[in-house]
Amino acid sequence: MKAYQITSPSGIDSLTIADRPMPQLGARQVVVRVKACSLNYRDLMVVRGAYARGPVPSNLVPLSDGAGDVIAAGPGTTRVKPGDRVAGCFFQRWYGGNADADTNKSALGGSLDGMLAEYVLLEEEGVVTIPEHLSYDEASTLPCAALTAWNALVEHGRLAAGQTVLVQGTGGVSIFALQFARLFGARVIATSSSDVKLARAKTLGAADGINYKRRADWDAAALELTGGRGVDQVIEVGGAGTFARSLNAIRTGGKISLIGLLSGAAEINPMPILRKLASVHGIFVGSTQMFEAMNRAISLAGLRPVIDKVFPFTDAKAAYRHLESGSHYGKVVISIP
Ligand SMILES: NC(=O)c1ccc[n+]([C@@H]2O[C@H](COP(=O)([O-])OP(=O)(O)OC[C@H]3O[C@@H](n4cnc5c(N)ncnc54)[C@H](OP(=O)(O)O)[C@@H]3O)[C@@H](O)[C@H]2O)c1
Repeated sequence: MKAYQITSPSGIDSLTIADRPMPQLGARQVVVRVKACSLNYRDLMVVRGAYARGPVPSNLVPLSDGAGDVIAAGPGTTRVKPGDRVAGCFFQRWYGGNADADTNKSALGGSLDGMLAEYVLLEEEGVVTIPEHLSYDEASTLPCAALTAWNALVEHGRLAAGQTVLVQGTGGVSIFALQFARLFGARVIATSSSDVKLARAKTLGAADGINYKRRADWDAAALELTGGRGVDQVIEVGGAGTFARSLNAIRTGGKISLIGLLSGAAEINPMPILRKLASVHGIFVGSTQMFEAMNRAISLAGLRPVIDKVFPFTDAKAAYRHLESGSHYGKVVISIP
């Protein structure tokens, strides 16, 4: 079977396509024929050899996110059966409850071989059935970006109707956060480097848009838009370059979900956190049980992920380059025939 692998991570050109043996089933494992994968910013860092969580195994199959059909199930498997449409979970060993030190050792496309292959071997507790109304392309976008947004806003954020959520940029995590916030009756303020993308965010239900290139003081703009009160929650994907402004933009007692480091990392001054009585919480994707709860909400609402562009399996490098360009809005997908 064909799979992409990263020979030695030094950029997108270190991706090669290889013939690999079919996965061998063990107890409570499933083989999935992959139909679609999606890309996350993290996958760019992995292929560049710049993944903050350290070096990845040699000849790693990349990508955490994918969806397809179960074609075989090992002894003792009860959660799914051949023929089921499933997505893989980012963490193969985080079924529910709190994550622990072992959780990160089970990340697809990081510690373990990922989804950019025709067939993959997954733990039965590391797959979820996908919402019926979604195509494989759409479902492939859920495991990382959607679950991270859900975990931030719903599991940790306890989002409620009438709250205001600020989402940074219009990438995968932030567009899902926008969609979930609207589902819960929250108001959304979106930031972006592009007016065109802000206009698209408004068609998804964002009440207001702030162009952070034109208004470097987007925190002040968010305060103006909330009558000086501040927003209830921030989806913080910017990192060092945005965190101080996020603290300024929240209301007293507001919440910041620390998710990304698009502008890098730095030391943190604790004083504004204390003064604002802020809740600052690190988020790392989510568990299988959270994924199932999110899928129930997606099914009930008929929510559809926003796909920017779909690339063929043979052109996976072009998909990476498209993500790298930053021109995307929502998710970039690779379809496997
Ligand atoms: N902790 C976790 O579990 C977790 C899970 C998923 C992702 N992440 C992290 O979250 C971040 C976003 O991931 P993603 O996959 O959603 O990325 P993505 O799809 O590539 O989206 C990136 C977008 O963020 C916006 N952006 C870039 N720099 C920015 C800045 N300095 N301030 C505000 N917005 C900025 C841009 O939007 P515009 O073009 O609209 O300006 C850009 O298109 C990454 O750092 C990723 O590693 C973490």
